[in-house]
Amino acid sequence: MDYKEATNKIKEILDSQDENKIQTVVDFLQSQFQTYSWVGIYIVKNDVLHLGPWNGPHATEHTKIPIGHGICGSAAKTGKTENIADVRADERYLSCFISTRSEIVVPIIYKESIIGEIDIDSDQPNAFTHSDEHFLKEIADMLAKHIHNM
Ligand code: SME
Repeated sequence: MDYKEATNKIKEILDSQDENKIQTVVDFLQSQFQTYSWVGIYIVKNDVLHLGPWNGPHATEHTKIPIGHGICGSAAKTGKTENIADVRADERYLSCFISTRSEIVVPIIYKESIIGEIDIDSDQPNAFTHSDEHFLKEIADMLAKHIHNM
């Protein structure tokens, strides 16, 4: 699917009366982008990332990650996107799924606070391009006010 079309579709979901908007957005991303094997949203509460809505073939054991730990915790600490082409070469990596080869984590920022993040694992190495980074940053910005209200 084309990024622009996907952005519009997600805008539509977030503007709708759907009571589980964030889950619907996660389901949409996981089903429409072939390289997005597992998609989850983590929410920051008291310096810990808590797993929120997710979609993928398996559940992760990492439902709580302290800020500063793993790739997720690094992105939550710095507020910068982590795009890891080869998770096996990154010593910070906390393994969730044996099939994961690359991962992207995009912080969700509301009024300069890091309130959560989008975490996507791919079974393909080097799956995430600059276009994915740009697209997911836009989605994170759109999600920010909804997550803030959660
Ligand atoms: N791999 C992440 C942990 C979360 S799972 O990918 C769902 C990390 O290194 O922080």
